[in-house]
Amino acid sequence: MIFDLSTQEPARVYSIMAQTIMPRPIAWVLSENENGSFNLAPFSYFAPICSDPPLIMISVSKKPDGTLKDTRANIKARHDFVIHIASWEQLEPMNSSAATLEAGVSEVAQLGLELTDFKGSKLPRLKQSNVAMACSLYEIREIGNGPYAMILGEIKHVYVVDEAVTEQSAESLRISPMTLNPVGRLGGPQYTSLGEVVTLARPE
Ligand SMILES: Cc1cc2nc3c(=O)[nH]c(=O)nc-3n(C[C@H](O)[C@H](O)[C@H](O)COP(=O)(O)O)c2cc1C
Repeated sequence: MIFDLSTQEPARVYSIMAQTIMPRPIAWVLSENENGSFNLAPFSYFAPICSDPPLIMISVSKKPDGTLKDTRANIKARHDFVIHIASWEQLEPMNSSAATLEAGVSEVAQLGLELTDFKGSKLPRLKQSNVAMACSLYEIREIGNGPYAMILGEIKHVYVVDEAVTEQSAESLRISPMTLNPVGRLGGPQYTSLGEVVTLARPE
């Protein structure tokens, strides 16, 4: 079957893309509200962009009423944010944190999630996280006809849970994917965990 995207409505285009470009990692983003509380929301239009400087991208649409999502408004105003790579154990709170709440209402507090200091970061991280990245705003760019903004963040510090770092020397670094146990987003409300992990040498 061929889908000619030029003849499809944007919602259908989203449905085709989201169900074929998968599994996607989930950036579980903590940002600071104007009142000092912490906002938390998941984003699966999320990708690494560059290593020098270390940039990631999240693509953020608008709220149903056309206003900016709190994550975007917070990053625009205060620049710092923390991306957690949601793990399988965090599937339910991660999903619950996608509820549209009034600006200033903290998903962290609502869901009873614990925070802890994040060395090198102004913002805390989720205590139970296996991976957290302290980021600062690099650029926000509006894209396309839809209400999307591409938010580029520069990663300043990365926290990885100790047990996942299986080898660390000048020559090599190994982080165990099974210990990180990340959630993958499929289309719609479907998720997956890691399946079989294979090692394959790259061709010369
Ligand atoms: C797994 C998952 C992935 C999501 N990915 C995105 C995304 O990439 N971009 C987006 O704008 N919204 C995405 N959403 C919806 C936002 O999380 C939702 O709109 C949330 O309320 C935004 O919160 P905020 O207003 O506190 O920033 C996703 C939701 C879920 C459950």
